[in-house]
Formats: sequence, C-alpha cells, structure tokens
Amino acid sequence: MSPSGGIAYRGTRLFIEDCDLAALADEFGTPLYVYSRAALQERFRAYASACAGHDALICYAVKANSNLAILNQLAREGAGFDIVSGGELLRVLAAGGDPKRIIFSGVGKSAAEMELALSHGIACFNVESLSELRLLDRLAGACGKTAPVSLRVNPDVDAKTHPYVATGLRDTKFGIDIDGALAAFREATMLPNLRVIGIDCHIGSQLLDDGPFMQALERLIELIDELAHEGIVLTHLDLGGGLGVAYQGEATVAIEEYVRRALARVDRWREQFHGGAALRVLFEPGRSIVAAAGVLLSRVQYLKPGSARNYAIVDAAMNDLLRPALYDAWHEVLPLEKVDAPVVNWDLVGPVCESGDWLARARDLALREGDLVAILNAGAYGMAMASNYNTRPRAAEILIDGAHAHLVRKRETPEDLFCGETMPAL
Ligand code: LLP
Repeated sequence: MSPSGGIAYRGTRLFIEDCDLAALADEFGTPLYVYSRAALQERFRAYASACAGHDALICYAVKANSNLAILNQLAREGAGFDIVSGGELLRVLAAGGDPKRIIFSGVGKSAAEMELALSHGIACFNVESLSELRLLDRLAGACGKTAPVSLRVNPDVDAKTHPYVATGLRDTKFGIDIDGALAAFREATMLPNLRVIGIDCHIGSQLLDDGPFMQALERLIELIDELAHEGIVLTHLDLGGGLGVAYQGEATVAIEEYVRRALARVDRWREQFHGGAALRVLFEPGRSIVAAAGVLLSRVQYLKPGSARNYAIVDAAMNDLLRPALYDAWHEVLPLEKVDAPVVNWDLVGPVCESGDWLARARDLALREGDLVAILNAGAYGMAMASNYNTRPRAAEILIDGAHAHLVRKRETPEDLFCGETMPAL
C-alpha cells in the first residue's frame, strides 16, 4: 500500500513533507507523534471546497486530536468546532477558535460546563435528553441568556461499524429516540430560555460508505417537515461526523463526494417544497480530517522470536495508541529506513504489562533491534486517547511545515505525572 498524508519514501528513507522521520526521532526521541500541516489542510479544504456556495459550517470534532497547534491551524482555515467538554471549549478558545462557531455535543454535559459555554456565547448546544433540556433552560434563565439549541435525534440507522463507535441505533445511550423527537421539540419550544434552532444526529464513526448518512438525512428531513407543519421552523441541520478513512486500503467514499451528495439532497428538499427556506448544514468531522495527517514513531527495543509468535517489543504501547487494544484496529506499519535484514512475521507489542498491549499483529517486516518504525493514520484518536498507564509519560508531538519541525507539545516527564500527589502523614 502506498502511504498517504504527505508521507513517502525518498530512496530508502521515510519522509513526512520535507522532513526525514528518522532524523526527527533522533532529535525529539520516541515514542513521537508527528503531524503534517499540509495533510491537515488538504483534508479540511476538501470539506470546505465541497461546501463552497452553500450555507454550511464544518465543525471539527476536537476529540479526535485536541492539540492546540492543530486547533489553531484549523481555526485559521475558518473551521468551527464540535466540543464535548468544558476542557475542549477552553482549548478551542486558547487556540483562537471563534465561540460563535462552536457547537457543544455530548450526552452528559455538567451544569458547570453548560454555564461556561453560555458565558462564551457558543453557537449551539446539541441536547440529548429532556432532563438536559430542562437544566439548560434553568441555567440560561439564571444568567439572563437564551440558549441556542439543537436536539440530537437518534435516527435508528445501522452505521455498520465497530459496535463501540456505532451511535445511531436505538439501543445506544445517544440522542433522543426518533419516536419521541416531536414531543421533545414541542417541549423545547415551550421553555422560555431556549431558542430551538436545529436538529442533529451522529450515527457512528469510521463509516466507509455514505449510505447510512443519507438514510439518517432522510429521517431528519422528514422530521423537519413534520415540525414545520406544527409551526416549529428549524434553520440548522447537523449531520454529525463519522466519515471513515482507509486504514487497510479499504474503499472509502471521498470527502467531497459525501458532502456534495448531502448538500444536493438538502438543496432538492429546499427547492421542491420550501421556496428556498434557510437551512444551514453542519458537519462534525474528526477522523477524516486528522487521521492520515499523523504518524506515531517508535523504536524497536528487543526482538524476541518464539516458537508460537515473533515479538518485536517497541517503545510505544497501548497507553500511546489505544486503538488496536480497544477496537482490534489495524494500522499500517512502515520502517523509517529500508534495511537489508531478513523479513520475518512480527507482532509489534509495547512494554505495558498486559497481553492486550499490541500495536500491530502478524506483519512481514525487516526489523533489527534499534530500528525505527512509523505507525500510520495515527493522527486521530491517537494522542487524544493516550494515558499514563504504567506511569508512562505521554509522547511529544511535532507539527511539520515543509522542512520545518515544530515541537507543539513537549514530552512529559515522570515527575509531571506525580507532582499533584501528596503523602498524608498518617
Ligand atoms: N460528533 C460526535 C457527536 C461524535 O461523537 C463524534 C465521535 C464525532 C462527531 C466525530 O466523529 P469522526 O468524524 O471522528 O468519526 N475513539 C474511536 C472513535 C470514537 C468516535 C466518538 N465520536 C476510534 O478511535 O475509532
């Protein structure tokens, strides 16, 4: 498979943009996350150009990768942001994001988080339950504000993805059941401190084709029509995120194709029945913008061939990249330098004390101890899901711009990890 995301071999050495990845590993140490600014821009611009001429907003899902430098680059491209916590709100603001382009998703927003978001005047709260609706109304009233609200509907559509990241079926915790949606909208419009502007859904993540998105869109459009008959006129339709990427050469629908198809459907609806009614369309992409823009670099510490399996023990682990352990996820692995060594079928595993601590299984690779590898498509849900399990400091992060490497997060030290702890003299 040919690598993407600005990553390619030049001779025997793997480069990201104009930077030699092995040189970066030597300079900044491993494990190391490295992101390509050009690859990030390319994917955001694919969304933006498909939206050109439409009333649409691309709200990057911050959870996929929340490094300030990434957020800042996207803010400068004109992105909005989809947040799921007060922490993500503060990150977006610190990175120069515009509060008027922030939408707040999530099934369990706390009162404090909603108050913070109200104080910054965000664009919309994506509300997921009647209880949340009532609390938001009370909090908005208490601070003399009107909260802009969209109701997240669960359209009961099968996204055909990993069960841990499928969210659009009735039996998940997400959204308001489509059958109860009309009643929820009626109640929402009665609450004095809310302004009901929209409807949203997010049916799952890593969807390879756009059929389920289009199915969900049909259900949302039906609801918008039913609401209009009751005099509840919505002006904002948010289709969530979820577009997948090719981790293992899978066929995926292109960003432009999906966005154009969705916008064309909305235009048709508008023209046929509604004489050009104003309806802004929002997307909340995370993975499809940032996954391919990032790699995780790791060094082979020990080779441990065995009678059952051959282990290459590397210095990155499940705490750095959880996706293989959690979802059985497949990430391409490439050596940073093509070397003359025997090709062996290796399992790449980390130093963490769990058998689930693996990064790649059964890969034919020419590896020697001390060699460096890149784990591809690690820009989304990589560093964002990293932990300090086994008191392992989290990796440094680098943003590449052509031949320039910028350290955008320094490596943690072990002392950073226990500096907030105390020992009571009991
Ligand atoms: N909007 C909402 C409300 C979401 O819950 C999510 C992701 C997104 C947007 C962005 O979805 P994306 O475009 O990135 O698929 N950790 C998992 C993925 C979890 C996705 C959670 N929600 C993974 O590594 O595969």
